[in-house]
This record gives sequence, C-alpha cells and structure tokens, in this order.
Amino acid sequence: MSDGAGSKGRAGKGSRASSGAGRAGTAPKGAAARADAAAGAAAATEPTAQPEVQPATAASASPPTAEAFAERLLASTLGAVEILSVYLGDRLGWYQALAQADTLTAEELAGVTDTHERYAREWLEQQAAVGILELVRPAAGPDGDGAPAAFRLSPAHAEVLTDERSLAFLAPLARFFGAIGPKLPRLLEAYRHGGGVSWAELGDDAREAQSAGNRPWFERQLGPALASVPAVHDVLSRPGARILDVGCGMGWSTISLARAYPDARLVGVDVDAPSITAARANARAEGVEERIEFRAADAAELAGSEPFDAAFAFECLHDMPRPVEVLSAVRGAVRIDGAVVVMDEAVADELAAPADQVDRLMYGYSLFVCLPDSMSSPPSAATGTVMRPATLRRYAQQAGFADVEVLPIEDFAFFRFYRLLT
Ligand SMILES: C[S@@+](CC[C@H](N)C(=O)[O-])C[C@H]1O[C@@H](n2cnc3c(N)ncnc32)[C@H](O)[C@@H]1O
Repeated sequence: MSDGAGSKGRAGKGSRASSGAGRAGTAPKGAAARADAAAGAAAATEPTAQPEVQPATAASASPPTAEAFAERLLASTLGAVEILSVYLGDRLGWYQALAQADTLTAEELAGVTDTHERYAREWLEQQAAVGILELVRPAAGPDGDGAPAAFRLSPAHAEVLTDERSLAFLAPLARFFGAIGPKLPRLLEAYRHGGGVSWAELGDDAREAQSAGNRPWFERQLGPALASVPAVHDVLSRPGARILDVGCGMGWSTISLARAYPDARLVGVDVDAPSITAARANARAEGVEERIEFRAADAAELAGSEPFDAAFAFECLHDMPRPVEVLSAVRGAVRIDGAVVVMDEAVADELAAPADQVDRLMYGYSLFVCLPDSMSSPPSAATGTVMRPATLRRYAQQAGFADVEVLPIEDFAFFRFYRLLT
C-alpha cells in the first residue's frame, strides 16, 4: 500500500485508543464493536471517550493455572448470559417501556408490552441482579407477596439500550446472538463438511443488528469524516456527482452520503432483497428517496452502468464470496478521475497471540457470521471478518487497481478507510 496500510493503520488504532476515541459498531458487527463506546461513556452524544483497547490475557512469565482460566471462562459465561438477557429486553420492547416510564413493576411491564408477567418478573430481577436496572423498591413481604418490586432504567443505560441514534447504542450487539443461536446446528454442519450459512439464512436479527449498529456512525460521522479528506471530498462534491454504494444493506450509508452531498445522485446495491426493501423504506422516511436508487443485485454485475464519480464498500467486502470480481466491477464502473473507498475492520497487520480486543471481536464475528456467510456461496475467497490490510491490497491488485492507501480517518468506530488507486 502506498502509505503502508499496515504500520500506519496500526498506529492509527493505537493512537485512537490512547486519544480516547474509537469504535463503539460493527458489527456490526458494527454494534458489537461499539462495546467500547458503551463501556466508555454511556451518556455519549458526541463520539464517546473510549477505554484503551486491552490485549487478551497475556501469556505471562508464570505458567497459566487451571483456576485462573476457569475464572476467566466463568466471567465469559456471565457476559454471555447478560447479552442474551439484553436480547430479550430489546426484542420484547421491555427496555423501551422502561425508558418511557419512571419505574415499573413486573405486572406493569407485562401489561404495557403484552408479555407474560411471570417471565417479566424473572427478567426484571435478573436485570437488577446484574446491575442493568435499578431496584427502586424491593418486593414487600417474606415471599414477595406484598407490594411488588419496582425497577428503573437509568437514562445512561437507556441510551445504550434504546437510543438508535446514539454512538453508544449497543442493543444491536445482542441481535447478532439472536441470529446465531438458531443456526448453531447449521454452523456445526458447515464446520464439518464445508459450505456455510448465508446472510439470508441468518435472517432479520443479523440484518437489523448490522444496520442498526452502523447507522449512528454513518448518520453522525460519515459526512465529517469524508469532508476531512479533500481528495475524496472534492470528488463527492462535483456538481451532480454519481455515487455508488455496494453492499449497502439497509441503506444508512447511502442515505448519509445523500445528506452530506445534496447535489449527488446515489445508487445503493445489495444482493439481499429484504435489505433493499428496508433501504427504500428508510430513504422514503428520511426524505431522500428522489436521489437514491436502490437495486437488489450482485455488485459484481455493474457492467453497463452509467459511470460513477465515486464508489464505496462499507464493511461488506470481507463478506463477499468473490471480492475480486466485485472490485473489478467497481473499477470498471467508476471514472478514472473518481474515488473508490473501502471501509473495513481496523484489524492488525498480522495475527498476534494474544490479540487486542478488535481482533478478538472480529474473529468472533468471523466464526459465526462473516466466514460462514462468505462460504455459503462457492466458489468463495473465504475471507472472514479479519481482512488484514495485505489481503485487501492483494484483492485490489487482482482487480486491476494500482495501489491502496489508508485514509487519515481515525476515531470512526473500529473501522479503517482505504482508498483504492487506479
Ligand atoms: C455486513 S453487511 C454490511 C451492510 C452495510 N454496508 C453496513 O455497513 O451496514 C454486508 C452486506 O453485503 C451484502 N453483499 C454480500 N455480497 C454481495 C454482493 N456480491 N453484491 C452486493 N451485496 C452483497 C450483503 O447482502 C450484506 O447486506
């Protein structure tokens, strides 16, 4: 890469951690990556202060003990259970109801959400036990048979769990677990015999996790981030610029580009028809549908398109079974004086053991979502979520690009922006 995506990108990640900004989405992925933001400052309305990205438990000088590792796995189990409990609260509308009320009892919560009181009570107690909710009034009586317990969701926790426009919004993280759970038998089958589990099979939980996780970053940060790179901003600002967004999902990146560049016309392409249906609805609701055409199509088949000034691939190239074909098609569809930008995970240059949280998180997504998705459509490059800079460079060169540079966009979740040069 012309600018050393490796060392520079890695430095960027380091500086992001130390400067206190960083990724909150991803992963989907966007959303999962936002763990840092939530942990850093749940009340964030601006890019949140981030805790430093910590390495995994380091291989220390003293040999590992069974007790220490058992404790670590127990802590992991507690975390997994909490995330699954967040899935319940998110999908049953319980957090929304709590956010709109001062306090609620189990009976009240079940009443306003049309759910079962006994389950609501167990969940409320568990949420208070793990510190997500406040117990404002314990149940009265020896068996809780007097006045019922009342619970509150603090504004800070409500932001993380219910505010879909906040950079600290993390509920989408739990939706990925909802998508993965039912597919574990299919994943085992794929791990034994090959093949995969497609994005379509992962279904609405995965689509909505991905879309909602990245949405606040696109809505709030994409315009300013691109404006900070004059060479790209100038292309996007051309009168009547045509902008392509491949793998656009539910369209929040395309919609945000339309907002940032009011003279531009945009085409969003995604092979997943339900995502495109949702993208059209989102563009209508946001009032930008006149300037955006959403197409349900394979991004490898752009031939014959009117030339574009710029093209983007946001957190999708590593999911694509045939990324080189897609990059070739993009190269052919963009004017020679245009701009092609790929946003993907800001992973390290190479495998480290132990790795930092970004790589650990992305390997997690890779095991359960991205690699099986990519391998569900053979022949597949089988990239996985941990698409290292050297891999992207190889794909870009195979697709006919001359080089790849890392754009100086930092503090954008856990993402790195690359420009592919002709
Ligand atoms: C992880 S999602 C990212 C969606 C969106 N860009 C975002 O950042 O939220 C990956 C998307 O790539 C799409 N995709 C995968 N292969 C594709 C292809 N060959 N052409 C168009 N879209 C593709 C999937 O359907 C999915 O919506």
